[in-house]
Amino acid sequence: MSDKKRETFGSKLGLVMATAGSALGLGNIYRFPCEAGANGGAAFLIVYLVMALLVGMPLMLAEFTIGRRSRSNAVGSFRKLSGEGKISIFNFQFSIWPLVGYLGVLCAFLILAFYTTVAGWTLGYLGKSAADHFSGQDLASIQQQFGDFTSHPWLPIVCQLAFLVLTAVVVMRGVKDGIERCSKILMPMLLVIMVVLCIKSLTLSGAGEGLRFFFKPDFSKITGRVILSALGQSFFSLSIGIGALITYGSYISRKDNMVSSAVGVALADTLVAVLAGVIIFPAAFSFGIKPEAGAALAFTTLPMVFQQMTGGYFFCLIFFLLLVIATLTSTISLLEVIVAALTEELRLSRTKAARVGAAATAVVGVLATMSFRPGSPLHIGASTVFDLLDHATALYMMPIGGLLIVLFVGWKMKRADVMAELTNDGALHAGIRKSIYFIIRYIAPVAIAVIFVSQMLMR
Ligand code: PHE
Repeated sequence: MSDKKRETFGSKLGLVMATAGSALGLGNIYRFPCEAGANGGAAFLIVYLVMALLVGMPLMLAEFTIGRRSRSNAVGSFRKLSGEGKISIFNFQFSIWPLVGYLGVLCAFLILAFYTTVAGWTLGYLGKSAADHFSGQDLASIQQQFGDFTSHPWLPIVCQLAFLVLTAVVVMRGVKDGIERCSKILMPMLLVIMVVLCIKSLTLSGAGEGLRFFFKPDFSKITGRVILSALGQSFFSLSIGIGALITYGSYISRKDNMVSSAVGVALADTLVAVLAGVIIFPAAFSFGIKPEAGAALAFTTLPMVFQQMTGGYFFCLIFFLLLVIATLTSTISLLEVIVAALTEELRLSRTKAARVGAAATAVVGVLATMSFRPGSPLHIGASTVFDLLDHATALYMMPIGGLLIVLFVGWKMKRADVMAELTNDGALHAGIRKSIYFIIRYIAPVAIAVIFVSQMLMR
């Protein structure tokens, strides 16, 4: 597709909001507390912050660079920028780098499959809060409701499929009207309601213990596994390592300042994850919910917090509405990776590509949802299909994809081209951008490789 025909975001704000929309989602509000709870609380938080700064932000910029330079999808961008370098096997010639893009598209598909399980729950919980299922209930009943809902034979599946349809409909509408407009209005609202929740949670009796768990580090808890989990979480939360930001980067206009956009998004993402922790841990401790409660943590703690508030019904309803929307802006970006690749590589229409992508996701996604039923055969070893998809993507595919992306930008692309993107052809100050290039070329790949390889060797 030619440069002219491609859509771009309408404004820098649109870019920041759409990228923030992709980044902010269940990764922050659901997955981050789960991971922090299982990996020692504050110890995890510290490693996470280091990872987001040292690896996450530079990788975000590396993806933007590839996307804007090539104006192409996750697969086509590598083909365009890598030039020759084809290898041939049995007369069949192909170049290696686009495989990184295919890996990303596959990863986006697998993430979307299990992500829509929890996305469906948020939709179900929106319905439950509208029907006032939580007022006046005690912890045992709220926990029971979560178990009943997630193991119901068809309800979570219907919610998941509805969510997928919603995602596909927005993606069909395209970049500016669908993705950008939706994100711009709703992201700021989410932040406001989270601050209100945060204040409430901090004033619950027993909140101190939760705060200590989340902020007072026990350094002996930092193990190799914790570091790998923090790396995976930072990739997941910032939507990096799978080409989602290559795809969004390809819609960035030539005049936008990518560095300040990436910094803004990374800060907002971190802020929302930390806020989620500040809401969930004090409340969990005060109600006697274990921090390692996993899936149930967000879905039982939050309704309990709302219970304690005046106007709880109203706040609960708005919160789940916003959570659905934050989740939707993330599923949109995941489906967009697949759709951009299908439309440009296989020349499918946008509508058809969105349908094919959503239908394929539904098949795997339903298995992930069904694996939550007690006694379900959808287990491999001790893990559910859901956990397997989560771990395979966040702990393996995303770090590998991220490593290959920084290697591509740091070592395969020309330095002058990368700097031209980072500085808008010299219009922006080069100082800090040179350090970013240095991190992309040396520090990020070494950090990812060391963490990843050492974890593999220790198994
Ligand atoms: N970053 C999103 C979240 O935190 C999930 C996501 C991962 C979206 C990868 C796109 C790509 O919820």
